[in-house]
Amino acid sequence: MSEKKRNIVWHETTVTKQERRSLNGHQSFILWFTGLSASGKSTIANALAHSLFQQGKQVYVLDGDNVRHGLNHDLGFNEKDRKENIRRIGEVSKLFIDSGQIVLTAFISPYREDRDVVRKLVGPEEFMEVYVHCSIETCEKRDPKGLYKKARKHEITHFTGISAPYEEPENPEIILDTEKNTIEECVESLLSELKHKQLI
Ligand code: ADX
Repeated sequence: MSEKKRNIVWHETTVTKQERRSLNGHQSFILWFTGLSASGKSTIANALAHSLFQQGKQVYVLDGDNVRHGLNHDLGFNEKDRKENIRRIGEVSKLFIDSGQIVLTAFISPYREDRDVVRKLVGPEEFMEVYVHCSIETCEKRDPKGLYKKARKHEITHFTGISAPYEEPENPEIILDTEKNTIEECVESLLSELKHKQLI
């Protein structure tokens, strides 16, 4: 064990996760949205957050583009950096769970292994993978940030779906299809799933 690790001792919190959950009146957990760029992850996560917030729930969205402006501004898009991106988000999400909140994460998170690292980091009831399915053709047509166009012209490297892989979830808890369903329909189905599982 390194010198650094040996001198760090875990400090138990005075206010527990259970006490925070009881006060909030709902469970705390991660809804982990994964999918291609422009598939609708952030839009759905934010719409869901709005609805939960209006119902008085403690909810927060962690979004790829935003987190890469701050905490993860030092990371790029090669495999190693994406792994570190997801690892840090996983650790941050775990803290959010501990604080009694519902955390909605919107990251491409293209590697199965990285998503599974987060799944194992928290309790079995605390992680739900939401696959936001949308074909690469449609995502490319939407191209809200013009990034697919740049990727086709080789102005961006390692672009997911074009020059970098996306590994589809094999056993996601929830699948949403943004080609077939509206944002409102996706939010409705998430809300009813959360109620069904007695998480909210
Ligand atoms: S992840 O793969 O590491 O999970 P993350 O969700 O944080 O990605 O960031 C993805 C966002 O960064 C995209 O929505 C897009 O706006 C932007 N981006 C910039 N370069 C790339 C790239 N090479 N591949 C994918 N997204 C990129």
